[in-house]
Amino acid sequence: MIVRVPASSANLGPGFDCFGIAWQLYNEIEFLKEGDGLKITGCPKEYRNENNLCYTAYREVLKYADVPEHPLKINFLKNEIPVSRGLGSSAALITGGVTAANELNNLKLTKQELFSIATAVEGHPDNIAPAIFGGFTASAMDGEKAFSVSYPLSEKLHFTAFVPDRELSTELSRSVLPKSCKITDAVFNISRTALLIKALETGDSELLFTALQDKIHQPYRFKLIEGYDEAKAVAFNLGACGMCISGSGSTMLFISEKESFYTNAVQSIERLFPSWKLIQLIPDKLGAAVL
Ligand code: HSE
Repeated sequence: MIVRVPASSANLGPGFDCFGIAWQLYNEIEFLKEGDGLKITGCPKEYRNENNLCYTAYREVLKYADVPEHPLKINFLKNEIPVSRGLGSSAALITGGVTAANELNNLKLTKQELFSIATAVEGHPDNIAPAIFGGFTASAMDGEKAFSVSYPLSEKLHFTAFVPDRELSTELSRSVLPKSCKITDAVFNISRTALLIKALETGDSELLFTALQDKIHQPYRFKLIEGYDEAKAVAFNLGACGMCISGSGSTMLFISEKESFYTNAVQSIERLFPSWKLIQLIPDKLGAAVL
C-alpha cells in the first residue's frame, strides 16, 4: 500500500502557528505488513530505525485503536519534499504514518481522529492540517483537541518557493523568537490574519501585500536566511505581489499574479544563487491519499 503526502507551508506571514497551505509536491511511502520486526528503506541510514517519525506516528495510531504492533516494511519511494527547509517534511512523515496505520489495519478512523493523533506527535497543527486535509487551512489547539477549518484559494495567484541550499531547523528558527510580544504587534498580526483569508480567496494583490505583513516571527527570522534581501528585491522587481517565509524557513514563498513569474525568477536567481532551487507550487486540494 502506498501513501502520497503533500508538502505544506505553515504560517503564511501573520498566521504564525495557525495557517497552512498544501502543495502538489509529494512524498510517496510504501507500507507492507510483512517481514520480521521493522525494516525501513529509501532514506538515509540514520533514519532507518524505530525513532523514524513515520513509524512513531504509525505506532501512535495502533495504540489509539488498541491494536497490537506487527511486522512492518516502510519504503520511502519518492522524496520530493526538501528536508529542513520549512516545507513540512516532518509533517509529511507523520501524516504518512497515521494514514497508513489506519488503512493497513482497516481501522476506519476519521481524518479528524488522524489529525489529532498526528498533531500530538508533531507538537503543533499548522503543517499537519494541510497535509491531511489539503488546501488552505487554519488550525488551533483547544487543550488536547485539534481544530482545523479550510478556506478557498484564488486561481489567479501563482506561488513560487525559493529554496536555499542551507537547511534551517525549526528549533533554531524558534530559538530567535522573543518569549512575549507587544499588544500593538498582536493587533497588527490579528488584523492582517483576517485580511489574508479574503486576499487569498479573491487574489486581490494590493490587499495581499498588506495582509502578508507580520511583526511576530519573521522580523527575527529573516536574518537567519542568507540572501533574503537580494532574493526579495529580485522577486518584487519581477512582479511578486507578496512574500513570506515558508514555515520556519529557510524557504521563502513568493506570490505573483504573473504566470511567467516562476520562469523569470529561475533565470535571475540562477545567476545570483546557483545552488538554490526554485519550485513552482500548485495548491493540493486533497491532502494525504492512499494510491
Ligand atoms: N509554525 C511553525 C514555526 C512551523 O514557524 O515555527 C514550523 O514547523
